[in-house]
Formats: sequence, C-alpha cells, structure tokens
Amino acid sequence: MNYRKLGEEGIRELQQIVGRDYVFTDASTLTLYSRDETEDLSFLPEAVVKPADAGQIAAILSWCNARRVPVTPRGAGTSLSGSALPIHGGLVLSLERLNRILKIDERNLQATVESGVITQVLMDAVAERGLLYPIDPASKGSCFIGGNIAHGSGGPRVVKYGTIRDYILNLEVVLPSGEIIQTGANTLKNASGYSLTQLMIGSEGTLGIVTKAVLKLIPRASHSVVLFASFPTNEDACQAVSAIFRAGLTPSALEFMEREGVEWVMEHDAVDFNLKPGVEAYLLIEVDGRDRDHLFVDCEKIAGVLEQHGCDEVLVAESAAEKEAFWKIRHTLPHSVKANSIYKEEDTVVPRAELPALIKGIKEIGTRYGFQSVCYGHAGDGNLHVNIIKGSMSEEDWKHKLRDGIRELFQLTVRLGGTISGEHGIGYVQREFLDVIYSPPHLQLFRAIKQAFDPNHILNPGKILA
Ligand code: LAC
Ligand code: ZN
Repeated sequence: MNYRKLGEEGIRELQQIVGRDYVFTDASTLTLYSRDETEDLSFLPEAVVKPADAGQIAAILSWCNARRVPVTPRGAGTSLSGSALPIHGGLVLSLERLNRILKIDERNLQATVESGVITQVLMDAVAERGLLYPIDPASKGSCFIGGNIAHGSGGPRVVKYGTIRDYILNLEVVLPSGEIIQTGANTLKNASGYSLTQLMIGSEGTLGIVTKAVLKLIPRASHSVVLFASFPTNEDACQAVSAIFRAGLTPSALEFMEREGVEWVMEHDAVDFNLKPGVEAYLLIEVDGRDRDHLFVDCEKIAGVLEQHGCDEVLVAESAAEKEAFWKIRHTLPHSVKANSIYKEEDTVVPRAELPALIKGIKEIGTRYGFQSVCYGHAGDGNLHVNIIKGSMSEEDWKHKLRDGIRELFQLTVRLGGTISGEHGIGYVQREFLDVIYSPPHLQLFRAIKQAFDPNHILNPGKILA
C-alpha cells in the first residue's frame, strides 16, 4: 500500500476541523504517541490529533481516506499487542476528549458512554447506583472503554460475568469513508442480520472508530470473599482449577500466579507476604454473591477441592483491606515482571481443563529454546499470560530463535483446542502467527472484511493483517 504524508496541507486541514489547539506536531507529543505498552516498540507519527466528537472524526477520516493518509486510532495506549502503534506514520487520532458518560439508565440497566471514558470511572459511576460493569482489565485505572471494545477485553471477572462481548449492546462507529453508523439496537437481544456490533468488538480499530457505546449493566453483589491458595507444583494448581467448576462452583475470579512472579512482586513492590518454601504456584479465588453464609459454604467446598489437589494452605480474606492485599499481589505482578527484565508477553488461552498440559508444555518448550518464563493469568478462563524473560539469552537468540519457540507455543495452544490471544489482541506483534490458528480461506475472509470497510486501508494499517 502506498501511503501519502499529511504534509502542511493536511496539518492545516486538521486545524480547520478540530482547532489549532488540538493538532500536535511537536517532538515530545509525537514521541509520547509513538508507543503503547508493548515491549519497547516505537514508531513516530507525523501528527497527533485530538478531535472532540464523531463529527470531527468523520471529517478527518473522510479527508485522510481521499488522500490515502494512514490513521491510527488510539485510546489510552495500554495495548499489549502493539495495536496503537502508528507503524506507517501518518496520523494518530486520540479519543481522549470523548470522555463523557452520557447516560446511566437505571430503568433499563444500561449506560451510554463516549469511547474515551476511563474504565474505572465508569465502574465507579455505576457502583454508586448499586450496579456493576464487570469488565475490569488490569489497566482499568487508565484504559478507555473504546480500547477495551477494540480488543474484546476481559480481565479477572470474565470467569463468572463474561467478556466485554457480553456487555456491548450498540455502538456508534465512524467508518473510514466518514459515514457514521449505529451497529445494533439498545436491546438485550438482536436477531436482525449480521452483527456488526460483534464484528467491531476485537477489530482493533481496523474497520471503524467507535465513538459511543451502549453497555449492559448488572446488579452488584453485596459480599465477596477471597481465598489465596498455595500449591507444591504448577500442575497441581492448574488441575484444581477445572475441578472447582466440576464441583458445581463458579468463582467470580480465579487467578493463577507462579511463585517467581510473586517473588518479584515482593522485591519490587514491597508487598508484605510470607512466601513459604516448597510452594511453586498460587491461586487467588474470589467468590461473590448476596448471601454471606452461602458464600462461606461455597468457600468450604472450594477448600475441599483444593486440598484434594495438593493445596498446602488456604488463606481467607473477608475484610476489604485483606482482600485488597491479596489482589495487590496479582495486580502488581505484571509490572514487577516488566521491571525485572526485558520480556515478551504472550496471551495463550486453552479450554480450562487443558491448563495443566499448557503449563507443562510451556516449560518444556522453554527448556528446549533456552528461555525462562513466568506465567500468571486468568486460570478460570484457561487464559495464561506467558512472560518470556530475556534474562541471559543472547541478543541473537532473543531476536531470531525465540520466534520459533513462540510459534511452537502457539501450535501447542491450538493442539489443546485453544488460541493465541485471549484478551490482548493480535495487533502488530502477533500478526505473523495468525497462520497457526487460521486456514487460508479464513484469512481470505478477514481480508475481504477489511476491504469492505476500509478499501483504501487507511485505518490502523498493518494491524491484525500484515
Ligand atoms: C493482566 C493483564 C496483563 O491480566 O492482562 O494482568
Ligand atoms: Zn489479563
């Protein structure tokens, strides 16, 4: 694809559309928007624009589309798959000014928000009314609802409440042509043809720019209990996971952490926790509901299942401070891993009962390719974040040989009935592995969909598809 530059004419046009104060070409802004949270990757855009509404976005896209100028939409830039990187330069279009909660409709249990609303801000606003919006990725304090939609986000509560796919009723989307559409209806069901809503979710800003979303809300549980369980081996912990569900229990979170990750949390974040010898893995299990006694009955049943799988010790937290202390270990773990070494993060997901085979396979592949890994993640969903640590690996092996190891890892997930990303997306860094999961006809359909929405390939080019 031959792309054009914005040039001075483009900058002037943008200034006309959004006003001079919202077009940026200075080096520090361009550097800031050249990255997201993916490894150490960076690509400089030509300009950054911060429109105020869908109308301005439509005018920008229409202008860029006519001139083949690439546009990279950006939420808060917390992507872990490089989906907000302007790899072809051009324009970064930030959604940060579309930050209004437009309506919380308590009659219908719905919220209408602009796509630049911070996830935590929405969660807090609905919590004040006794309601729950349960999609809380690790970056919830900064990430935007629009970015969550673009990635089909999950987080720890998917295991009970589902992913963002289960909470989006309707979207307002600006197409590359500059036309604005509604993808669905504000209803809980919709059997009226192809679901463009579901197609937009997880499309990583390659088909259109989401400007508004109508979200489903649910009543909030009044009680929760957190269990923190330790296991002698990774496989014991992983085996306990599916056993909990087979015993008829559905926790509201079920997170796995390898010991090494927890050790790094201790080192980097001064969390006070007694790491006992002989423990290789932990499960953080949360149950929630409306009846405290009932929750404790469930906790006892869970503890029984854990014991049958070699669990050494189960710590129980009921006060807000105790629960927060356990969650803090989990929430700071990704950051601690990053602080420890250069790393690559993979987002493997398999059917839940295959987790023991996945963790065993990850370690076996690591031994063969000479990499160390620290795994943690949403075990209840079969979703393990595999952090591959550079450690003492040579530059040469890290750059070239590791690729084959990652391919093997992904082939393993597919053999186990899984896939290569559960919630972080394909973006820029996983696109070379798409052939591991999709056949040529499948990829051809992907290309045809992209062509139908964005025939000039201006929108987030080079993401998902190379
Ligand atoms: C987490 C992010 C990395 O689960 O997905 O912490
Ligand atoms: Zn995660």
